[in-house]
Parts: sequence; structure tokens; C-alpha cells
Amino acid sequence: MAGFFKKLLGENSAPAPAAAPAAKPQTAAKHKVGITDTTLRDAHQSLLATRMALEDILSVASDLDKVGFHSMEVWGGATFDSCMRFLNEDPWERLRKIRKACPNTKLQMLLRGQNLLGYRHYSDDVVDLFVKKCIENGIDIIRIFDALNDVRNVESAVKATKKYGGHAQVAVSYTNSPVHNTAHFVDIAKKLKAMGADSICIKDMSGLIYPYVAYELVKGIKEQVGLTVQLHCHYTTGMAAMSYMKAIEAGCDVVDCAMSPLAMGTSQPADEVMVAVLKGTPYDTGINIDKLLAIAPKVKEIRTHYKEYDISNPGVDPTVLASQIPGGMMSNFLSQLKAANALDRLDEVMAEVPRVRKDMGYPPLVTPSSQIVGSQALMNVLSGGRYKMVTNEVKAYFQGHYGQPPAPMDEKIKKQIIGDLPSITHRPADDLPPYLEDAKKEIGDLAKNDEDLLLYIMFPQVAKPFLEQKYNK
Ligand code: CO
Repeated sequence: MAGFFKKLLGENSAPAPAAAPAAKPQTAAKHKVGITDTTLRDAHQSLLATRMALEDILSVASDLDKVGFHSMEVWGGATFDSCMRFLNEDPWERLRKIRKACPNTKLQMLLRGQNLLGYRHYSDDVVDLFVKKCIENGIDIIRIFDALNDVRNVESAVKATKKYGGHAQVAVSYTNSPVHNTAHFVDIAKKLKAMGADSICIKDMSGLIYPYVAYELVKGIKEQVGLTVQLHCHYTTGMAAMSYMKAIEAGCDVVDCAMSPLAMGTSQPADEVMVAVLKGTPYDTGINIDKLLAIAPKVKEIRTHYKEYDISNPGVDPTVLASQIPGGMMSNFLSQLKAANALDRLDEVMAEVPRVRKDMGYPPLVTPSSQIVGSQALMNVLSGGRYKMVTNEVKAYFQGHYGQPPAPMDEKIKKQIIGDLPSITHRPADDLPPYLEDAKKEIGDLAKNDEDLLLYIMFPQVAKPFLEQKYNK
């Protein structure tokens, strides 16, 4: 038996996952598929409340670096905030240490367009400096997205990435709605290419892309836009690995996966599975699965350090297919309804989410639009009337301060919410004056360098005590 496996898998292979039969799919031409490993960013953000500390990261980083991934996503998203707020870590120091541990692999980060790693728009001078520092401290690929897919909101970050020699990957936030179809997304991708995007990512944050839709969409972008396409799915609904397969058959170049102990659920499909599935096919990743099998126990052990934050394994949640409500939004609803002693109204709130989304022109539900839609849906149900009470964010949204939504907003609702207040149609950041010099004055000599200054600009309340402690003031 052992001999049989050895023959099947090649020398030095563990008799674990049997290699895929060398079937020859009659679809896209042979191409080597790359894998971006998300273990050190999205995976623990999705499953361990973004709590993985540097010590644990460094205990596997150099092993992961030797696997031969297309890239490793190790920074950005919520990790920047989490480092300072919960772990008393300097996020810049984290990046430099990971860079040092990973000399062979491209390092990748997630950036929220003009929101950078915060929750509001920043002025263009801040965007420029932030991107410059990301690249200087070790990032190769910056994945840039906007919650509304308003291309104007990613423009500054794309320009800066190219200016400082980085790879500007722009992500389209994937969602399902009456206006979101293949033509709509391909059209966005064309605009992004014209703007200078080096590659396109389809960012499916709630696992909503159906495998055959993924096929059509990837094919559309490959044929009509012609850039490298990367697919980023969460496993939430159970479709992600199937969608990867169809996307790959359509020509998808890179897919995002995580090491198996931090894969599946609301995280990505597993590295090991994808490598095994593609082995011996025209899409072989070229990755030696033995290397992954040797690392997996270490990642499994790391996960045990975060039991109190671990959402454990939620398995597959097909209800998300209908509600489109991402996991984070659902847990917010539960805790807020519990606080308001109104848990019995969860169904009403869930039914209100798609209505609010329609009123707002079908924004994809991703940070920060998911929070904006979610809190308003909650208010509409609990305050005894739709838009009787309105959050400041919703007001700003209807005034155009987040950018242009995918479809027109409901004019009647807009009138009801903003009345005669002015609304804008230009790029929101055009209203923001340069801020770096003012920020320098505000923080004074507590910021010893640009990295410190950017900590302060992004999260002033958290950064001040953090820097005071760092410099023992
Ligand atoms: Co993600």
C-alpha cells in the first residue's frame, strides 16, 4: 500500500491526500495557478478576532516563506488596529519582522482605498505617505478596494502604489443584487485597468459567488480586460472551493487559501486541499504538499492559544446565500438586540437589511457599508418607523460622502433623510484639505517618525497612549 502511494505521489510524500487523477479539463489553456496564503492576516481576522500575535506569526512565517506561494497576505485589514488596540504591538514593527522572516515570498496587504486602514476618508497627502511607508517597510502587493466599488475612492492609493514601486491590485467587492451582473463587474474592471491597476481581485467577502458565475466573471475579465485575475472567497456558504475550481478553469491566475487549521468556516479554503486537487492537472501549483503537511500541526497548535476569541468552526451557513448578511453583521445584531431585550425581533431586522440596501443603491456589504446598513436596519425596526431615526453615517451616505453607490439611491428616502442639506457628486476626498502638517503639530514630538505619525492619524485615541508607553513618557 505504501508503495502504491509513493508511486502516486512521488518520493518523500506522506500517504495523506491522494493525488488528483490527471484529468484534462477541456476548458482554459494550461496555466500554473498561484496561491496567496492568508493564514497570517485574513484567516485569523476571520476566525480568531484578529488576535494572532507576532510571536506566533514568526513561529511559522519562515516555514510558509519556503512553500512557494504566489504571495502571503500578512498585513492590513483589521490587523493594524488590532495590533495597537489589543496586542500592544507596533504594526510597523510587525511588518518589518515578517519581511525579515520572509525573504523569498511577495508580501501582500489589504487596504480600504481612501479609508486606508481606518473607517473614514483620509486626505490625499495622508494616502500618499501611508502607501509609501507600507512599501518601504516591506509590502510588495497592495490589494485596494472600496466598499461601493466607486473607482474614484481607490484612485489615490493606486497612484501612490505605482509611484513607490508596488504592485497595485484592485479588488472589486463582490455582491449579488439586481444591478450586479458580469457586465457590471467587467465594466468596473475596465475602469480600474485604465486607472493603472496591475491586477484585479474579485473580493467575495461573504462567499456569495456561485461557481458557474465565477466562471463567467473570470472569463469576462480575462477576455475583455486582460489583466491577471485573483479570486478571494470566504468559505461561509460552502461554495468557495467549488468557485475556485470553476474560476481556475476559466483562467483565474491566483486563488486565496489558508493553512487547513485556520481554513474553512468564515475563512478561506485550505491550502493543502487546493494544492492536492490541482496536482497533476494543467493547473498544478507546483507546491510540494509535504511542506504544507509539515507546517499544519504548528498552525493547529497556534490556534489553541486563542481559545477565548476562537469562533470555533461554524461549518457552512447556507442561510447567508439568501440573506447576504455576513457573519460579523449577524453577531452585531445578536449582541445589540440582546442589549435592547429584543432578540425576538431578529427576523424583522434580517428582513429589513435588503430593503435598506435597496434604498441605498445596493452597496456590497463590506466594511464600512456593512456597518452602515446594519445599524440603520436595526434602527428602522426598533425605533418604530423606517428612517424615523437615522445614524450620522447614513445621512453622510445619502449626501454622497461615501461616494457613488452601484445603483441610484431611493430619491424619496433621500429627501426624507437629508431634506435640503447639500449633497455631492464629486470624489469625496476632493473636499479634504491636506492634513499631514496639522497632524504633526497635534501629535508633536510624541511621533518620532512618519510611521508613528500615521499611527496617530489613523487611530488617534489608541495611538497616543500607545506612543506614550512606547517612548516611556
Ligand atoms: Co477576506
